[in-house]
Amino acid sequence: MSMKKIELAKGIEALSTLDYDLKVFDVIMKTEFGSSYNAYLIHGKEKTALVDGTKPSFFGGFLDALKGEKPDYLVVNHTEPDHSSSLELMLKTYPDSVVVATPVGLDFARQLVNHDFPSLPVKGSLQLDLGERVLELVAMPNLHWPDTMWVYDKESEILFPCDGFGAHFCSPYLRLSEMPDEVKRQYREARKFYYDVIMSPFASFVDKGLSYAKALPLKMIAPGHGPVIDEDIEQLYADYEKFNLRKEKDQVVIAYGSAYGKTRKLAEALAKGVRESGLGVCVFDLENANLDAVAKEVLSSRGFLLGSCTILSDALPVAYELTTRMNPVAYHGKRAAAFGVYGWSGEAVANLSTRLGQLRMKVEEGLRVRFEPTVEELKQAQEYGKQFGLKITKGE
Ligand code: FEO
Repeated sequence: MSMKKIELAKGIEALSTLDYDLKVFDVIMKTEFGSSYNAYLIHGKEKTALVDGTKPSFFGGFLDALKGEKPDYLVVNHTEPDHSSSLELMLKTYPDSVVVATPVGLDFARQLVNHDFPSLPVKGSLQLDLGERVLELVAMPNLHWPDTMWVYDKESEILFPCDGFGAHFCSPYLRLSEMPDEVKRQYREARKFYYDVIMSPFASFVDKGLSYAKALPLKMIAPGHGPVIDEDIEQLYADYEKFNLRKEKDQVVIAYGSAYGKTRKLAEALAKGVRESGLGVCVFDLENANLDAVAKEVLSSRGFLLGSCTILSDALPVAYELTTRMNPVAYHGKRAAAFGVYGWSGEAVANLSTRLGQLRMKVEEGLRVRFEPTVEELKQAQEYGKQFGLKITKGE
């Protein structure tokens, strides 16, 4: 780890904790390029605000970089611990500072440090007067935490959008404009990956953030991770708009695992029926499928049929594994059902239906057939697929 401090504009410094060694973020996201935790020190004529912090293990270096500064305000843009778990140490160091956050952010912060502290709530928005510099603080709920807030400094035309427009990317270049072309290429890759993993579940809120940012005169965007974006801001907007397109394809994904080809027969009959409803079909045999790709296809489709035979009184592990690539935030409301052929007890369909319900999908009663599907049962499966598709096209 190392700390880097640069001046972004008159009275505004970036303090970046460079965490080259981070390999995985939050146990869910590989961080090939490490990460940085950016904090910003903003001076007015009378007061100073410190936006965000670092991890407690890096606090010693962070404090050294602050060089005896005494922030009047500790601005918490959200309480995710990669930025805010040093809040307790900050409050010990600066007991007179006032914590500024959204009401829910203050609630979370109190439970993070387990005691009270002086605070200023940002109810929707707040003008924070530092003396000849007024910061505009705006709640941006669900971008990506419920307590997220963004900060805009009119004087320097810098936006501090919490994790918005961020990237897990660690390099000696704190400004995008300083990066050599090859480093920029890697950074853009990391920025897209960050959007995919962290922001894409909150696409409708990303739209709101984009609209807010685009209406501002901006010289720089200074996020919580990665370089300060001081060039190609229009390109950033264009990239984000493209990332954030989420029109669903007029199709149903049918993904199945089949030990002896019998659940596959059901899948084929279902596919025929769905096509009769006017929708397209995208079929995956889970035995050899790339599960991330399947989950992505489900996200961009209007319906999902998940099939599994029953082995040892449960669905196949690969069917569950696929659903671990999904989450209720992004997948909720999608029409779904489980299906499968079984021999003895047939728990797979009920168990997968429960899992689809946990993902808050609109779950139809599943389809279950014992041993070899008969011609009649395959016809019923075809009809099931057709009705499933029609419910989607009719918006029932
Ligand atoms: Fe970088 Fe949402 O924490």
